[in-house]
Amino acid sequence: MKILVSDPLPSEGIEMLKEKAEVTEYNCKDPLELESIIGDYDALIVRSGTQVTPEVIEAGKKLKVIGRAGVGVDNIDVDKATEKGIVVINTPEGNTISAAEHTIALITSLARNIPNAHHSTRSGSWERSKFLGVELYKKSLGILGLGRIGREVARRARAMGMYVLAYDPYVSPEQGKKMGLEIVGLNNLLQEADFLTLHLPDIPSTHHLIDEVKIEIMKPGVYIVNCARGGLIKEEALCKGLQEGKIAGAAIDVFETEPPENCPLLEMDNVIVTPHLGASTAEAQNNVAIQAAEQVLTALEGGSVCYAVNVPAEMPESTSEIKPYQPLMELLGSFYMQFFGGPIDEVEIKYSGEIAEKKLSPLTTSCLTGMLQVFMGDQVNHVNAPLLAQNRGIKFKEVYTSSIDNFTNLVTLTVKSGGGVNTLSGTVFSQDDIRIVQINDYEIEVLPSSHILLCTYKDQPGVIARLTTSLGEEEINIAGMQVGRKNAGGEALMVLQIDDPLSKRVQDRIKSIDQINCVYYVEPWLKKNILHNRKEEPVGK
Ligand code: NAD
Ligand code: MLT
Repeated sequence: MKILVSDPLPSEGIEMLKEKAEVTEYNCKDPLELESIIGDYDALIVRSGTQVTPEVIEAGKKLKVIGRAGVGVDNIDVDKATEKGIVVINTPEGNTISAAEHTIALITSLARNIPNAHHSTRSGSWERSKFLGVELYKKSLGILGLGRIGREVARRARAMGMYVLAYDPYVSPEQGKKMGLEIVGLNNLLQEADFLTLHLPDIPSTHHLIDEVKIEIMKPGVYIVNCARGGLIKEEALCKGLQEGKIAGAAIDVFETEPPENCPLLEMDNVIVTPHLGASTAEAQNNVAIQAAEQVLTALEGGSVCYAVNVPAEMPESTSEIKPYQPLMELLGSFYMQFFGGPIDEVEIKYSGEIAEKKLSPLTTSCLTGMLQVFMGDQVNHVNAPLLAQNRGIKFKEVYTSSIDNFTNLVTLTVKSGGGVNTLSGTVFSQDDIRIVQINDYEIEVLPSSHILLCTYKDQPGVIARLTTSLGEEEINIAGMQVGRKNAGGEALMVLQIDDPLSKRVQDRIKSIDQINCVYYVEPWLKKNILHNRKEEPVGK
């Protein structure tokens, strides 16, 4: 077995690889150069420096696995690797503490002007009044993204006496309370925070999350720290906010382009910059090197790895009897999350009818995968979904019962979330014929489709016509339609399968129709983080 390591990796990881494979360490930053040599190797290990382009993957004729010593796989074309059947693994936990500690270092450096004071003192000055700082004690810290790193930052900030607020649509206020912090809405967080720190992935729904509009909402004199991904902040807007004095200071470890080119942030006195050092500690690098080496060797030997980013969604042969239910379970998970939104405390999955005689934990995993993918993207798969759910404090349980009315089999999700409970049921009629059959109190047969529009409306003549006319005027073709209501003249639910994606503008147009109350748009098969479809109100209760 031949393994190419194309970014610097600590010797602990290299030695581990050498016990089982022939290892080449070759620091090669140019994708063209990598393309010319990759054909000889069974595995490639990278950090963030190497760009694993589609061309590199195409040239890797023997490549079976790509290991990322770190969290973000944004430098790897995962879709191309999946297409080629190449496993991509990452090591999401090894550098959490280091990234959290770097964040705290940046926060304290900002509060006390440490870099500027250091340079001034070294140059012979003694400018005590110029570098008057602020205390962190009793200041509010706003954390955007309360995942692994955000939580560790919260613990450290609380220990310093900071008041911690967080925004993460998938963490409930109760979970926040257990961590000693307050979960708030995004705008509240922006208005309240004295210090703001970002701990999110850079994905379509979070790209440029901090722009001119969000900066406008912030407290004057706010300090901003980004130790996650450069693309989360629109750099131009940040510069403007800093220049105008709205933002008192920023500490930036990650940039839209790395290394940054002609970036004005590098010239500004109220900005601290570090060269993507969040994970650069001896401990984190050892952790990720060892985890990457272990997983790459396991994958090369055909074993299953915990952090495969793109494990195929196939289920093992032994479970072929329950295979037709897998698309239903992914549909229920993804549909639930997009329609009702998070956060989630507990998921009960009830299997009723003839299906309940089988062992169904792989189906539960499919459902969790569908749910988590909505906000964690394609890093979630069948191997890691239960662990990721557990790490996020989501409890899940299975209930089996043979008793059932109306169907031969039925799967019902009952989800507890922030004090409320929602249910969603689905069934498999025959091999490929899956349906959602109940949404809370609405009995309605929803046919799966790539683009689903759902509206709640007042059950009156003419509403459906007005809606379909609007869609027609927008050149959106309707492939199917179902309606459900609890009583004549009351609230009703309409579900439409449409052939094309529905823009926010068209959703707003539909919402402006008088009798339409809420509009939801669901893309059940999209395995990417999609937060565009936040829930408006509980439906069908
Ligand atoms: P994580 O997946 O554990 O946490 C991300 C959190 O973001 C999740 O809780 C998710 O629910 C939340 N989220 C998703 N969409 C959201 C939205 N629109 N609004 C608010 N929250 C949302 O990830 P992590 O391990 O904590 O890493 C966080 C980031 O830090 C990643 O981008 C990672 O690549 C980066 N990172 C940087 C360094 C560095 O060297 N600077 C080191 C490690 C990780
Ligand atoms: C990560 O995603 O793990 C960090 O950005 C650190 C790194 O790139 O090594």
